[in-house]
Amino acid sequence: MCGIVGILSTRPVAADLVDALRRLEYRGYDSAGIATVEGGHLERRRAEGKLRNLESRLLSEPLEGNVGIGHTRWATHGKPTERNAHPHMTARVSVVHNGIIENFRELREELTAAGHTFETDTDTESVVHLITDEMDKGRSPVDAVKAALSRLKGAFALAIIFAGEDNLMMAARLGSPLVIGHGDGEMYLGSDAIAIAPFTDTVTYLDEGDYAVLHRDRLEVFDKDGRPAVRTPVKSQANALLIDKGNHRHFMAKEIHEQPEVISHTLAHYVDMAQGVIRMPEMGIDLAKIPRITIAACGTAFYAGLVAKYWIERYARVPVEIDIASELRYREAPLPEGGLAVFVSQSGETADTLATLRYCRENGQHIASVVNVRTSTIARESDVVLPTLAGPEIGVASTKAFTCQLTALACLAIAIGRARGAIDETRERELVRELVEVPRQIANQLLDETQFETLAHLLTKTRDVLFLGRGVSFPLAMEGALKLKEISYLHAEGYAAGELKHGPIALIDENVPVIVVAPRDSLFDKTVSNVQEVAARGGQIMLITDAPSEEAGCPLAAHIAMPLAHEFTNPIVYAIPIQLIAYHTAVLMGTDVDQPRNLAKSVTVE
Ligand code: F6R
Repeated sequence: MCGIVGILSTRPVAADLVDALRRLEYRGYDSAGIATVEGGHLERRRAEGKLRNLESRLLSEPLEGNVGIGHTRWATHGKPTERNAHPHMTARVSVVHNGIIENFRELREELTAAGHTFETDTDTESVVHLITDEMDKGRSPVDAVKAALSRLKGAFALAIIFAGEDNLMMAARLGSPLVIGHGDGEMYLGSDAIAIAPFTDTVTYLDEGDYAVLHRDRLEVFDKDGRPAVRTPVKSQANALLIDKGNHRHFMAKEIHEQPEVISHTLAHYVDMAQGVIRMPEMGIDLAKIPRITIAACGTAFYAGLVAKYWIERYARVPVEIDIASELRYREAPLPEGGLAVFVSQSGETADTLATLRYCRENGQHIASVVNVRTSTIARESDVVLPTLAGPEIGVASTKAFTCQLTALACLAIAIGRARGAIDETRERELVRELVEVPRQIANQLLDETQFETLAHLLTKTRDVLFLGRGVSFPLAMEGALKLKEISYLHAEGYAAGELKHGPIALIDENVPVIVVAPRDSLFDKTVSNVQEVAARGGQIMLITDAPSEEAGCPLAAHIAMPLAHEFTNPIVYAIPIQLIAYHTAVLMGTDVDQPRNLAKSVTVE
């Protein structure tokens, strides 16, 4: 994770570096720092915690250099202290890094034996000393970096500046994203195009293994074998994505409220509204002949994939294998010839998901990805991209990306069902009609949040919360628990309602709220039986349902009344209450809703 930026200019760059870092804070916010070349020397300022702490430091101790790099950190190696904050440096070299250097221990031992003194606990510092060591042997900065890169194992995006060089910056990427921006007599780099969007819309994406030499007026790119490489600049759309909270208190609230609109945009991409049928992009594979589908993703995106498994198996009648991405490839799961592998990711940069994508490609799968960031690595490495049109999601807790993922996956399920004859045209039109209703149903739910505020008050008095759901509501129960724990820091678990009696029921007493996702679908009666098992043991039941409260057959601590939706679209509609429960609970608990502790928006380490 972490975000990195760099600017080569003829004017002081510190303020713009901080500005660019602000747009990368979603990648980590444990500490931040910048370094510039000042009168031939390297100078840096760093601060623990959020970027505003670095800004205060710069007010009292400004930096004046015209060449600089910056970093916002999500700690992997070493505590999130100022000492471990980037940039790391020696007298000759300063480096910012996103990723993990896997062989840092070996490098550290070797360089320590060679007389280098390490000051931090980070893996990155080994890169700084490695480059310095090569320069000490008489190599030029460019050759020293080239030699150092050949020694690094792991994933990295690096930006490097040098003492005595006020018209040189170097960059390299392997496994972590990096984009170079072309200005008028200036050069920029960033972990994504949004970071540098106010400065330029002409950008060059580096390929895997590339390294680059930046001067103010030119960019030279070399491939992983050191050969000059042509990487064509493109126009970035990122400027259009610069955003604020509007009249909402948090990005998360804004993003929850954007859902009717962004789901409509996503639907418009996959639905022929005039005909009322699905119009998928060319998939490059015969959907009628796929033997099995493999889905992999992480966190919330995994739960979207799990809902898709229920949909695809039920409506398209194709077996689906799903696993969290960090497990699938290490299981060395056998994959069928001619299979389709689907990866779900908001950022398109999640390291676990990307690694599993590559595993599936090596094992002959056709690769489709459901991604929100179309320029991302996962999108670029896929045979077919199924975009979600959620727009930039800034709140660390995923909301609108999740419901847009569900929307795209629902369309995919229908398309596969049609291709295989499991769904006829009448059924397709019926399911599409239901999908098209979803934005309106969600908009209605968002008109009044009082019931969620009331329920949140009850939750703040507890320490543990259980979420239950059956069938396609089971992934939602897990998503509800994830959302609540990540932003309110309350302990929560999601269970399949039928599984409760096999163990977790031992946890139930009058202090444990049990939130039940229970649309009145074909499994409703079975879920109600499980609700009664909880009630009999004194649990406080909070039912999210379109059924009247009496149908629970027991007293309820809360009844969240849902609009009547279709069994097929329920998972999208029922995502809203679980988001609002987590949001209002977190607000009452006073946590940092948009940037909860220990998390980052884009997880580019394994
Ligand atoms: C939870 C959340 C995470 C992400 C996960 C995958 O609210 O946002 O669980 O869903 O880190 O991220 P992407 O979708 O970017 O691959």
